[in-house]
Amino acid sequence: MEVRDNNFCIGGIGAKSLVEEFGSPLYVYDEEIMRTRARELVGAITYPNREIKYACKANTNVEIMKVFREEGMSIDAVSPGEVYAALKAGFDSDSILFTTNNATHEEIEYGVRKGVMVNVDSLSQLRFVGEHHPGIELCVRINPHVIAGHHDHVITGGPESKFGIDYTQVDRVKEIAREHRLTIAGIHQHIGSGILQPEKFMEAINVLLDTAKHFEGLSFIDFGGGIGVPYREEEERIDVQVLGLKISEEFEAFCRAYESDLKLIIEPGRYLVAESGYLLATVTSVKEGQRHRFVGVNSGFNHLVRPAMYGSYHPIVHANCVEGDRVRQAIAGNLCESGDTFTRDEQGIVDRDLPLFNEGDVVAILNAGAYGFSMASLYNSRPRPAEVLVRDGEARLIRKRETIEQIVN
Ligand code: LLP
Repeated sequence: MEVRDNNFCIGGIGAKSLVEEFGSPLYVYDEEIMRTRARELVGAITYPNREIKYACKANTNVEIMKVFREEGMSIDAVSPGEVYAALKAGFDSDSILFTTNNATHEEIEYGVRKGVMVNVDSLSQLRFVGEHHPGIELCVRINPHVIAGHHDHVITGGPESKFGIDYTQVDRVKEIAREHRLTIAGIHQHIGSGILQPEKFMEAINVLLDTAKHFEGLSFIDFGGGIGVPYREEEERIDVQVLGLKISEEFEAFCRAYESDLKLIIEPGRYLVAESGYLLATVTSVKEGQRHRFVGVNSGFNHLVRPAMYGSYHPIVHANCVEGDRVRQAIAGNLCESGDTFTRDEQGIVDRDLPLFNEGDVVAILNAGAYGFSMASLYNSRPRPAEVLVRDGEARLIRKRETIEQIVN
């Protein structure tokens, strides 16, 4: 953690001064952290024919997407909006994979028209693409029945998951593909998000590689995203060098048996952006309740929904008094629901020992770069925050703060 004169700094700039310059609440991202994470992953996969797709749902800011383009990555997009954002960020259409789920026919057509490869996740979608675009190249998402993820909501493998084609239905996939002369260029899986157990990845990878044996002429295999980051001090970071090496070795062995050097793809989102992002909010009021000292701020789950939605823990720092006498406090948002507290788990409020907050102080919520702004809403008709990117000690506005006039119509 970067601290100067007891002030919390992001990329060399004081958090409080960022709020003074750009307003509050504010999302701030440290470009160096993103690039470090990107280079770590690129270096971790030793197999040479590899591609890292940034799963841009984690953060769709076009300027952030450009950073990953510069780092040599491609894109996994899940909607026409994300495809559009990727094209706007300068990605070539052939570097974008359009991973659909319950997409409309129009959405699939949008992807095909833009020249991006469609990753279908049901037999009926496969049939639709076959009927309308016979001969096209595509990717098929498989559900390998391996279950992992930080919360039930984000487990995407297994029988409870709506994603992918069951790995036992490979024959049906091949039949439909044959009927419409479709080229299955790749197979794909994504088992869940926020995974901190490397063995889960290896389990799923082995299932997908077994499945891949049933397909001829594949060009790539995409193992999805899901690499977690530690949010709590006691959580252990995945050693991506070790994991990358293991994946590369398994893949190389597979390619030898398959007699083709396929492309190995992974598509992380969180790992690349989570730790680079901070949500800065300002204390608007303090209330000494019977059970809790409520520190009220000018933000809420409309700007960072993870605590309210999953009971997720985010580290919190008193930005203008990093070290001070600590008291138990609950940090609460300004929305009209009791669930609108940043310090909570799934059961309810969990106070934190933090330096005493008073009105006007700045609260920094850490690890907010992934699924923060991208899940923000207009609930209570409150505009979404501005976004700022910090690089080499300079801050640049990368999304303007919304206004009430823009959002109410
Ligand atoms: N690929 C696919 C097909 C995905 O569905 C996802 C995430 C990823 C890649 C990237 O996963 P990551 O590397 O970021 O774990 N809102 C939740 C996370 C939802 C993830 C959805 N899919 C959260 O805030 O924890």
